[in-house]
Amino acid sequence: MGVSAKSLKVDDTPMMQQYRGIKKEYSDSILFFRMGDFYEMFNEDAKTASGILQIALTSRNKNSNPVPMCGIPHHSANLYITKLLKAGKKVAICEQTEDPKQAKGLVKREVVRVITPGTILDDNILDPKKDQFIASVYFGKNQIGLAALDVSTGIFKVTQIDGGNALLLLADELQKLDPKEIIIPNAIKEEPRPWLPTGEVFVHSEEDWTFSFSEAYRNLVEHFRTQSLEGFGCENMEAAISSAGALIHYLRETQKSPLEHINTLTPFPIHDYMALDQCTLASLELVQSSEGSRKNSLLDLLDLCQTPMGARRIREWILKPLIDLKKIQERLGIVADFKHNPTERKNLRDLLKHIFDLERLLGRITLSACNARDLIALKTSLKVFPDLSQALKSYDSPSLHAYLENWDNLESVYNLIDQNITDDPPLGLKEGNLIKAGCNEELDRLKKITREGKNWIASLELEEKERTGIPVLKVGFNKIYGYYIEITKKHIDRVPAEYIRKQSLVNAERYISPKLKEYEEEITGAEEKIFAIEQTLFEEIRSGVSLAGPRIQGMARTISEIDALSSFAEIAHRYNYCQPEFTNDRSLVIENGRHPLIEQIDPSVRFISNDTFLDSVKQQIIIITGPNMAGKSTYLRQVALIALMAQIGSFVPADKVSLGITDRIFSRVGAQDHLLKGQSTFMVEMNETANILNNATPDSLIILDEIGRGTSTFDGISIAWAIVEFLHKADQGGGPKTLFATHYHELTDLSRVLSGVKNFNVQVKEWNDEIIFLRKIVPGGTDKSYGIQVARLAGLPKKVLDRAHEVLFNLEQSEFDEVGVPKISHSENRQNQPSSGQLGLFPEPENPLIHKIKEIDPNELTPREALEVLFELTQLLKDGLK
Ligand SMILES: Nc1ncnc2c1ncn2[C@@H]1O[C@H](COP(=O)(O)OP(=O)(O)OP(=O)(O)O)[C@@H](O)[C@H]1O
Ligand SMILES: [Mg+2]
Repeated sequence: MGVSAKSLKVDDTPMMQQYRGIKKEYSDSILFFRMGDFYEMFNEDAKTASGILQIALTSRNKNSNPVPMCGIPHHSANLYITKLLKAGKKVAICEQTEDPKQAKGLVKREVVRVITPGTILDDNILDPKKDQFIASVYFGKNQIGLAALDVSTGIFKVTQIDGGNALLLLADELQKLDPKEIIIPNAIKEEPRPWLPTGEVFVHSEEDWTFSFSEAYRNLVEHFRTQSLEGFGCENMEAAISSAGALIHYLRETQKSPLEHINTLTPFPIHDYMALDQCTLASLELVQSSEGSRKNSLLDLLDLCQTPMGARRIREWILKPLIDLKKIQERLGIVADFKHNPTERKNLRDLLKHIFDLERLLGRITLSACNARDLIALKTSLKVFPDLSQALKSYDSPSLHAYLENWDNLESVYNLIDQNITDDPPLGLKEGNLIKAGCNEELDRLKKITREGKNWIASLELEEKERTGIPVLKVGFNKIYGYYIEITKKHIDRVPAEYIRKQSLVNAERYISPKLKEYEEEITGAEEKIFAIEQTLFEEIRSGVSLAGPRIQGMARTISEIDALSSFAEIAHRYNYCQPEFTNDRSLVIENGRHPLIEQIDPSVRFISNDTFLDSVKQQIIIITGPNMAGKSTYLRQVALIALMAQIGSFVPADKVSLGITDRIFSRVGAQDHLLKGQSTFMVEMNETANILNNATPDSLIILDEIGRGTSTFDGISIAWAIVEFLHKADQGGGPKTLFATHYHELTDLSRVLSGVKNFNVQVKEWNDEIIFLRKIVPGGTDKSYGIQVARLAGLPKKVLDRAHEVLFNLEQSEFDEVGVPKISHSENRQNQPSSGQLGLFPEPENPLIHKIKEIDPNELTPREALEVLFELTQLLKDGLK
């Protein structure tokens, strides 16, 4: 809804005309229209914003034709902007772009920035330990283009996804990027988006032409000021270019700045890393615990970084474990060096503490959103660079030498700031005191004038007292009237003729003299000139620093990696981790492995370590049974986490680990609800399992935790059984290493028929109908769940427990009665078996009694034999009833 025709006629003041002109261009944003110390919103914007912000909706022109409006003070704008962004709105900031005092007529106004959920720069809002991406998705003919950009740091990357699984891969990748905002072409805005990540994300659709290849390509080369995209290695990635070009266009439109810190575009091939899907990320609690926070996640554990950049690096590494052995060894080599030299490590980490978030500082500096304190923060950080490189030289790791070879102390940047910017500048840029003395002669002269003002005033006061003979004469200043000479009424008759009265007070009069007037003009002029010169100089220094952007970014990357690796070393030292050894085979051997997170939860509980041996042939699949609470899930996850940690270059919680490179880890926990996605528990479980069966390779590691439990027992067992059979490839050259925890004891029979399947169980001791958890994984299966004993531990009423015992007893009886010895592995003739409901997959064994009777041919029997058969049948019947 716009402004009605009638109101147009009435409220056609020049200001409202100006407002409407600007609003027209930013119709999809809430327009913050600066008026003095307030941002005002009008019409529909006012209605929407007042609702979200819970502020009063008033109106302009109350009498004639009211225009709804609301306003917020400009100094607390951030708070309100955040709220609007959270509600999925964009905010266009329209400032007064000239000094109202200087303006002839209506003051000029312009939109200086559009703030969107993905382009916030405010440090109070940004999570320092996480990249803040805005993503762009383009569906090309054969590929999906995905671009991601963090405006706060300038990181800009693209990839292309193709193949039958493209949508799933897109979903996985977006989940890892966790963007605040995604832009898509208008053409697909009505289509379903099953690939959207879970969590808060805002999707904006943009004009289709911005995604067209030629337009996108042009936008990119124009932005980077290059001839082509060859230099970035993405010249031929059409879909990727479409998404990246549209994204840069969108940012230029919203940021209204040249975005100089975005100076490179990095292709990130998604296949160069260990593949981790959304489900695995969640179930291994890699960057978020099951409660949805960072606390108690692997990231939280491994991050002892001294800088936010290091923390962001670890997050990136956890989500993208390496598969290139050389790169893994490089990281491990550095961690080992750091770990084995505790004194040097402490020294190094103490130095890192002084380094600010260089990536985000640079972001603000190049976007002209910085103040002088940001430059000082950069200088403080740069100051430790030489010491840091010295500290690194004390190690003998060849990988560290690679960092040192490209080391850049950025001295010129340091000097530029050090020589020009005062050490303790104010927050604002218009308060003076930005530039050091000695940088600019004119500035120094003007500052001298203002500095000497006090003395000058004191001497004028003295001079005038003497001249006029008035003892209580005071020279002062106030904001409204400027400089004045104050004389009490008592002495009014002695006021010299050249004094001009300015203001009357109860007991005194205030005057201005020609001499004071002249001084006033000089001093106010000086202050204005000081601010102007300081701002020009500040701008020069700022852009000088921006020019070094790529060098600063390069060093920020180096430092973030060193910080991350020193954090790994610190963890390895504190928690006694070992260096994993990589082999060229597919085995995974862990001696005394521990779960890195569970072992830290309660230091008073001793964590019981366990060994693991898996390979792709001899012991390809391990079925783990054991009572509830025994530690099955913990064990499964500890194996997966150890394999993952090794490939991000971290040491691992065990005494000794050797392993081949894993290409994918799949982790599935049965029966988890995804009601928000509108799918049933079991459907989700089966979807995820299908993904595993279709994608696992002999180099993969799979952990299945009670898969199949989301349906009836027999269906569940049957599916679980068939899944294991499918995964078992020990006899076909090798299959994915698999750990399967289950309460279906029937599955332990699989080891009889499949050579690569082995049974293990978690030991418990029974004592007086109670169980003691030993937490040791030992070979062999179990056939008891101890569910009722565990329920007792949980405090279920005794009546319920007693009854449960009775029911269990009955169930066990009937199990023997009906089914006899379960021989569910007999499957050759299953097509020929008559199906009987749930039991269809299991050949029902024939009753031995009937079997015996069928064998009898009465014509062949002697009377004595007939009597024997009769005895035998009676016995069989009795046995069956036992
Ligand atoms: N090796 C261990 N050492 C010490 N405590 C352990 C160990 N493993 C597990 N625990 C403790 O036991 C608890 C239960 O473990 P877990 O959830 O792995 O059992 P589970 O066998 O999967 O049970 P359920 O069958 O009910 O899923 C854990 O939360 C942890 O506190
Ligand atoms: Mg469990």
